Amino acid sequence: MNILVLGGGGREHAIVLALSKSASTEKLYCSPGNPGIFEIAENPQINSGDFEVVKQFCRTSLIDLLIVGPEQPLAEGIVDFFIGEKTAVFGPSKSAALLESSKDFAKQIMMENNVPTAAYKTFNADEHSEAAEYLRNHTLPVVLKADGLAAGKGVIIASTTKEALEALDEMFHGAFGNAGAKVVIEEFMYGDEASIFAICDGTDYITLASAQDHKRIGDGDQGKNTGGMGAYAPAPIVTEEILKEVNTKVIEPILKGMAKRGTPYCGCLYCGLMICDNSVKVVEFNVRFGDPETQAVLPLFKGDFAKLLHSAAISKIDKSAFSGNCDLHSVCIILASGGYPDLFKKGYPIMGLDSNSDQDVIIYHAGTKEENGKIVTSGGRVLGVNAIGNTLKDAIHSAYSALEKIDFQNKYFRTDIGYKGLK
Ligand code: AMP
Ligand code: GLY
Repeated sequence: MNILVLGGGGREHAIVLALSKSASTEKLYCSPGNPGIFEIAENPQINSGDFEVVKQFCRTSLIDLLIVGPEQPLAEGIVDFFIGEKTAVFGPSKSAALLESSKDFAKQIMMENNVPTAAYKTFNADEHSEAAEYLRNHTLPVVLKADGLAAGKGVIIASTTKEALEALDEMFHGAFGNAGAKVVIEEFMYGDEASIFAICDGTDYITLASAQDHKRIGDGDQGKNTGGMGAYAPAPIVTEEILKEVNTKVIEPILKGMAKRGTPYCGCLYCGLMICDNSVKVVEFNVRFGDPETQAVLPLFKGDFAKLLHSAAISKIDKSAFSGNCDLHSVCIILASGGYPDLFKKGYPIMGLDSNSDQDVIIYHAGTKEENGKIVTSGGRVLGVNAIGNTLKDAIHSAYSALEKIDFQNKYFRTDIGYKGLK
């Protein structure tokens, strides 16, 4: 089949690479893509932010499957825009994408379907004084979440009431734009986080390897939140028992609940989980693959990824397209521009991109671009260096050895990616 992937980060590089290895893939396109992706997929010269342009390209290039990488086009209804087209789209409809685009909606669905999550209450901007009163009586730390999409920045964990009240003011006064017009105030959950991706067709699903992200900029989970500084898979904290709990207490009730509302969930359901004392609570849902977990998870995938996603997109998931995960460990370390997640400089040439001949190493591109025939840095998260190994320790060692061979000015990375999994 012919496939178009929308997006241009490390996640999309991993998706395109997995598709390029699928028996059922014929022509593969990605837009806007990046220089790493262009080595394995064609880059159509289209404005991929314009749904009409994407639709026309899919018609003329006989695209069988469209895969949407990031959340924004899903929240804006790209899937609904393709109803009646020959192209199958992997991703949820606008109404189903509310699981990510409205934190309040996600909490309501969880409550209605008895999905374990933190206790919460939602307030509108005209309930500012009630929200402040609620915060004054809340245990600490307390978590405030802007309801809408806020590029991963809309969550504040306040350790004092003063901090919480200030955060509430900021949210209601537009610090996150319209996303903060409603604020979810919830209980802080203790435990270890993990992510599970469920490939869903509306009623049925399969889960990929579990993973753990490293969201903070500094070693030992210190400093500011980022888009993710590295990931590893599988996450040993997700035991067979935990996985069963995720299936029966989270994914299945959500699929049933969404179908009952008349908004069945098709696409990748990203379950962000908190695991404590062998039980699971949901931190958040995303309606797309995670970044950088996907970069670590997909090298373990055995089967025909293109066929699996296409079958889910047409609401008839073909579980035989997934032959399980290989019995190995995978680690992805992000090489970032020094200064990220605050201000950083870009445009620095990247050296050593071809220095890794090891079959078990993948260099994913994220914030890179080609300039005068050279690959230069163009974003905060520049590359993802991935390695697989027989043990997690081997994979960590190989990934760190591989990244030593790559250099650019102000290169920054965490030195403890995957260590949590060794404990
Ligand atoms: P979210 O955007 O909802 O994933 O939140 C971003 C991060 O904030 C999560 O990955 C957690 O590390 C943290 N977080 C969010 N909600 C909670 C909570 N209720 N308790 C503890 N940590 C949380
Ligand atoms: N890894 C977190 C995310 O993709 O949102």
